[in-house]
Amino acid sequence: MENVRYSLKRMAEVLGAGPKVVAEALGKKDGFTPDDLAAAREKLRKVPGHRPLRVQLFLNFKGGTGKTSLSTSYAYRLAERGHRVLMVDLDSQGHATKCLGQEGSVARTLHDVLIRKVPIAEATVPTGMPGLDLVPSNLAMSTIDLALMPLAGREFRLRKALEEISGKYDYVVMDAPPSFGLLNLNALMAAGDLVIPVLADFLSYDGLRLLFETVQGLEDDLSHQLEHIFIVVNAYNQTFKIAREALEALRTHYADYLLASVVRQCTKFAQASSEGWPIFAFDPDSKGAGDLEAMIDEIEERTGAAQAAAGAAGA
Ligand SMILES: Nc1ncnc2c1ncn2[C@@H]1O[C@H](COP(=O)(O)OP(=O)(O)O)[C@@H](O)[C@H]1O
Ligand SMILES: [Mg+2]
Repeated sequence: MENVRYSLKRMAEVLGAGPKVVAEALGKKDGFTPDDLAAAREKLRKVPGHRPLRVQLFLNFKGGTGKTSLSTSYAYRLAERGHRVLMVDLDSQGHATKCLGQEGSVARTLHDVLIRKVPIAEATVPTGMPGLDLVPSNLAMSTIDLALMPLAGREFRLRKALEEISGKYDYVVMDAPPSFGLLNLNALMAAGDLVIPVLADFLSYDGLRLLFETVQGLEDDLSHQLEHIFIVVNAYNQTFKIAREALEALRTHYADYLLASVVRQCTKFAQASSEGWPIFAFDPDSKGAGDLEAMIDEIEERTGAAQAAAGAAGA
């Protein structure tokens, strides 16, 4: 993502500073890089305080609901806001890895971490966006459920691995594969917050029941309680009656979990991922980026992340 460029207008928006101030701080008026953004943050003293680590998992057992598109853009945007973020790609298809511009050779994956106990820091690579690191994935991850099976503490390995880096990041954001197995169980056991992207159709609605049963099982059998569960409707098209009805059903039956912000259908997601850029880098003025921004604000508010940070800074 080194070739991501920011306009002066966007720099000013991201930093919450006037364009003049930004231009003066960096001595130029356009073609700002992600490194420029980080440098301006330092110079203008706009670096947010460290936050208590939140581990957040984007999961749905159904494919194609937007786990990868939303989680990668979410992680990128948090880093853009100045937070220290680790994105963990759990899917052997490596889509999150590609969405963050990391094509080609991947030296290590979570497979090495969970099976061979390689420290997670050794499987972590920078993304070109300061503040955003990545544990990449590739086909080596496809056999991980089998490899985990005979191991001691097989459900807790990811949680353990993340304990090593708890002071280094404010957020760990994980993009899950659409499967039901030991890796996703590890991810659920490591997570504090679960974000479930769903499409506004009735198949997604059925899938939710399975997911909630699984979460209930975790509580009963492994005594792991998630702090927050958020359902976010993605790729919403309100011109379809079926979509409006499905959204209504979600509002009725999952009121406690459903986010008020809905991510509308937006072709920019596909274009952005084919460039290996999150939507905020590709087109921050698109409706997809705007909807995601609202989703992030809502999650921050509901988790109390911003308040917790303010409290920690004052302590
Ligand atoms: N809000 C959206 N509007 C339009 N297309 C979307 C949206 N979100 C995701 N997509 C597209 O839907 C497809 C599946 O999304 P993806 O994030 O890969 O889902 P998952 O990771 O759940 O399988 C991709 O082609 C992606 O570009
Ligand atoms: Mg995916």
